[in-house]
Amino acid sequence: MNVSTKFGSLVDRDKWILDRKMFVDEDIYQQELEQIFGRCWLFLGHESQVAKNNDFIGTRMGEDPVLLTRDAKGKVHGFLNMCRHRGNRVCRADLGNAPSFMCTYHGWTFATDGKLVGVPGYKEAYFEELDRSQWGLVETAQIASYKGLVFATWDPAAPSLTDYLGDMAWYLDMGLDNRAGGIEFLPGVQKNVLPCNWKYPCDNNGGDSYHSPITHYGSASVLDSAKRKSGASAQDGVATVFSAGYEFGTSRPVSAGNGHCVTSFGGWSDTVSTRRPTGESANSPSSKYRAEHLPERIERLGELRGRSRGTFFVFTMFPNFSGSNTNYRMLHPKGSSQIEEWIWVPVDKDAPKEVKEEARKAQTLSRGPSGVREEEDQNNFMDCTRTAKSLIGRQYMQNLQLGLGHEVRDERVPGYATRGPNEVNQRSFYKRWAEMMDAPSWSQVHIDPITYNQFDR
Ligand code: FES
Ligand SMILES: [Fe+2]
Repeated sequence: MNVSTKFGSLVDRDKWILDRKMFVDEDIYQQELEQIFGRCWLFLGHESQVAKNNDFIGTRMGEDPVLLTRDAKGKVHGFLNMCRHRGNRVCRADLGNAPSFMCTYHGWTFATDGKLVGVPGYKEAYFEELDRSQWGLVETAQIASYKGLVFATWDPAAPSLTDYLGDMAWYLDMGLDNRAGGIEFLPGVQKNVLPCNWKYPCDNNGGDSYHSPITHYGSASVLDSAKRKSGASAQDGVATVFSAGYEFGTSRPVSAGNGHCVTSFGGWSDTVSTRRPTGESANSPSSKYRAEHLPERIERLGELRGRSRGTFFVFTMFPNFSGSNTNYRMLHPKGSSQIEEWIWVPVDKDAPKEVKEEARKAQTLSRGPSGVREEEDQNNFMDCTRTAKSLIGRQYMQNLQLGLGHEVRDERVPGYATRGPNEVNQRSFYKRWAEMMDAPSWSQVHIDPITYNQFDR
């Protein structure tokens, strides 16, 4: 692994300003691939995507193509999707079920447990001298799942997934553990290539309640029937949302430790919120379903999280796995100034068909590649990246001082929980980024202690 290079100094952790080289510079990006994507736990997929033996999906870790497989005996693996002969990808399909992958270049064939099981000309051309046991697929150093979400890391020295997640697990449960059957992903993935640096959407997805009333005023006023009926103008609307605290005064940003960020909109059951996912109507199957299963959620998760699931939450698990109660997403980097965003729709496994179908439609309308809210965000991320590159623009620092020194703690939930709006989550995200960029090994990275056992459930 690389030695320290002090890229971390690009994050001024006293003044909380950022040098925007970090969003466009190629050397910094290469260092990110090694220091962050080469060492952190990254999301590969949900177990429901590889439910049967020999199921597989194609994914990525950083820019490396990766296969998530379930082998013939049922064990889950993460492999570099790379033939060991000359480096061709061994599988070009996005998903499927097959006992083996045959490389399309010269035909080396690998089983779903990674073993090299077929070599054309093994007798006639290799004279049986090739040690096939040494030329299997490259496997991730560690792989583990948390309530169905599968993560892997290339670094054998990385902390366990449990320690890496820390208190974030308590918050992930709001999406994963509402029903006894857990969740599944609806089939398919929505993919989206965007000319922006990966960190802009990641820091936003962790909870940027400051932008919501401005950036999303358009979609909120179009899709929210209450606002539509009020007939308010855009300017009236903006004034109203600020004074009424829509997604602003009621946001609860939490730095969950280890760079992970969560925000609950509507608070931890202390504020009554009627917020529904954009595009979902009142009295819809989903609204009814959530109301019907509220007692079960509270039983499983306690009051604070059980009720909060009925409002809205968003998260980013460092570095690039984000989500909410309507979608999960990976912000795969694709060069310093481009991402490929992959979006899935999680649903309670035991939810009725019409609820799952409504979740699919609401996600596509709102946060799919051409979803109304998605587009509103994308323009911001692209422009921020463009000006970080431009001659004059790149000479100026970026500001992360919102609420600095005025944070109001909320002691009822784990992590550094606050009452928003502020930029505590962005500050903790870039603090972690700076630590990872400078630390020569995991032994020099601070791991926040797990405290969730002291809280409700
Ligand atoms: S590159 Fe795969 S068999 Fe040659
Ligand atoms: Fe947004």
